[in-house]
Amino acid sequence: MTTAYDPASLDGETLDSLLYDRLNPWGPCDDFYLGLVMEAGRVLDVGCGTGAILRRARAEGHAGRLAGLDPDPSMLDQARSSDAAEWLLAPAAGAPWHGEFDLAFMSGNAFQCLLDDADTRASLAAVRRSLADGGRFAFDTRNPAVREWRDWNPEHPYEVVDPLGARLRLHHETNGPDSEGVLAVRTIFQGPHWDRPLVASGSLRFVPPEALDAQLAAAGFAVEERFGGWDRRAFDPERSPSAVTVARAA
Ligand SMILES: C[S@@+](CC[C@H](N)C(=O)[O-])C[C@H]1O[C@@H](n2cnc3c(N)ncnc32)[C@H](O)[C@@H]1O
Repeated sequence: MTTAYDPASLDGETLDSLLYDRLNPWGPCDDFYLGLVMEAGRVLDVGCGTGAILRRARAEGHAGRLAGLDPDPSMLDQARSSDAAEWLLAPAAGAPWHGEFDLAFMSGNAFQCLLDDADTRASLAAVRRSLADGGRFAFDTRNPAVREWRDWNPEHPYEVVDPLGARLRLHHETNGPDSEGVLAVRTIFQGPHWDRPLVASGSLRFVPPEALDAQLAAAGFAVEERFGGWDRRAFDPERSPSAVTVARAA
């Protein structure tokens, strides 16, 4: 059952996940993945969050197998409000399938939740195992060269309207990545329900494209395409905000 939106009892992380679809409305990145999903017969969404892409795919007539996994109960609960797909509470490394999917994808920078080499290795191995030979793995990661985190500070606040109609103000705080590329980020929420800010803490790893390629090759993937934007423009190592990678399971 979906966690109730009761401002008095929410912690920052749960608030963040319950507002996820409001903070991240459907956009060009979702259209990019939806296109891949609609072309594939059997699809696994790794780090599916609230399941928006698979839900949309089913609504638009995808007739094949759709499965989503995510380790965050509060995100997955939202996905489970729909029977569009099979939903599994698990991290990428816990994907239990063997050769059952034609496409796996990690959208919304979910790949950046893999915080160290060991988890990345285990996660890519599990994704590879889940795919049939020749299957594809698509994912996006922010390009560390662009240093997007420089704008994640109180000078760049934004707003969201919550399920009760209240206007919440939020901003991020971070000191930038450590020597392993891991960046701790705090999201600060302020709104009329609370007399002090609510804080959601998280971490993201920024991995340069060359390192991504080495990780993919070690897991048995060959990079087929790398885009620098959702319009499929070529990746520019200095300027593209994201590296959008499509790899093939060898
Ligand atoms: C920014 S959200 C993206 C959600 C969704 N893919 C989208 O496009 O909206 C990142 C998601 O990755 C999930 N995540 C965190 N660690 C993970 C892991 N080890 N394996 C798979 N997913 C993970 C989080 O719980 C979260 O739902």
